[in-house]
Amino acid sequence: MDRIRIVGGNALNGIIPISGAKNAALPLMIASLLTSDTLTLENVPHLADVEGLIRILGNHGVDIAVNGRREHQDGSYSRTVHFTCRTVADTTAPYELVSKMRASFWVIGPLLAREGQARVSLPGGCAIGTRPVDLFIEGLTALGAEMEIDGGYINAKAPKGGLIGARYTFPKVSVGATHVMLMAASLARGTTVIGNAAREPEVVDLANCLNAMGAKISGAGTSSITIEGVTSLSGARHRVLPDRIETGTYAMAVAMTGGDVTLSGTDITLLDTAIEAIRRAGAEVSAVDGGIRVIGHGDAIRPVDIVTEPFPGFPTDLQAQFMGLMTRANGVSHVTETIFENRFMHVQELARLGAKITLSGQTARIEGVTRLRGAPVMATDLRASVSLVIGGLAAEGETMVSRVYHLDRGFERLEEKLTRCGAIVERISD
Ligand code: EPZ
Repeated sequence: MDRIRIVGGNALNGIIPISGAKNAALPLMIASLLTSDTLTLENVPHLADVEGLIRILGNHGVDIAVNGRREHQDGSYSRTVHFTCRTVADTTAPYELVSKMRASFWVIGPLLAREGQARVSLPGGCAIGTRPVDLFIEGLTALGAEMEIDGGYINAKAPKGGLIGARYTFPKVSVGATHVMLMAASLARGTTVIGNAAREPEVVDLANCLNAMGAKISGAGTSSITIEGVTSLSGARHRVLPDRIETGTYAMAVAMTGGDVTLSGTDITLLDTAIEAIRRAGAEVSAVDGGIRVIGHGDAIRPVDIVTEPFPGFPTDLQAQFMGLMTRANGVSHVTETIFENRFMHVQELARLGAKITLSGQTARIEGVTRLRGAPVMATDLRASVSLVIGGLAAEGETMVSRVYHLDRGFERLEEKLTRCGAIVERISD
């Protein structure tokens, strides 16, 4: 099992190219199930989750062709992938596949819309919380589907003639359930209005792609989305938006270590709330041509309180990294997690580096320390693991992060990107 060895203490200087967003790429890839034409996606990141979904889609009958990587001067490359689902080969998504990646549950939307039926394994819990599927069941039921749970699977069946547009308001904001409703309602008869929809940029990216495929969606990016159903969708070419979580992660790393880094190929407007928090912590962040420039001052980190919320609030996917940054603030800060009930597994690992953190319910109290010291630590989930990398970059001495397969799910070429900026980070394959 691979490990990552970090020798901390170096400031970061240079350019870090930001990849296409994992959390946009996954629903966009799933949208290829909605059409018999080819959906071409550019800027698809090379990540374990993306490769896993490629295998899952293959099981449903999607032909996949990957076009070589193009190396750019700043060290970035982009992959273009063609997805073609002439006919759906299988409307069942088995437990063995869905249990590995929750997003694969989302195939339920397009399979139901296109084939009138789907049998999809319940995703079950995961390390960061219970993550139920009630909102998917309610939403698709509102479109006329019969939803039945049987032996760990959801059997979904559309009425004769297909799903029917409806008004449905989510009782709670869900990114995944909003994605699924967009895909399902695009091929429903009549108009659907979704209330309390997720406003995340990845939802807007999916809506833009579906519209390029011939869907009629308006209001994406607001909490009310209207979808006029169409009888079929065609192929399209779409570029995956930049990864705002990767962007925020590296910005926090620079704020932590000090230095001057340009994050290229990304967009500051995707993460206003997080950028504001990073600025309040003392780093200088500005929009530059084609990206963002971050100047960190290392030791002069100010304490900042944050609360995670659905977009446009502070993202839960940056909570662990921000806590990593706050471990070296010159004062006390508080981090409150409101999206997932168990997303504090990084706390005990950060403590191994010398952080002083106490937990009380959903709030962590972080008392900044003047120095962290390297230690062996264990990655527990994707974002938690990168907070340990951030901690390790600022710690004195060696930090060894084990179970890095968590990192590989969502951070493309992390060691290479950091090494190019002067960090000492290497992967050790045992
Ligand atoms: C997406 O997960 C992201 N995943 C997550 O990123 C992210 O943390 C999350 O949105 C919140 O921003 C992808 O895009 C692939 P939700 P999703 O449905 O869609 C509850 C990462 O690190 N809920 O918005 O699964 C749920 O339990 C990952 O990249 C229900 O109660 O999240 C949670 O408390 C991790 N019933 C809240 O809603 C439901 O039916 C928000 O979850 C569905 C969700």
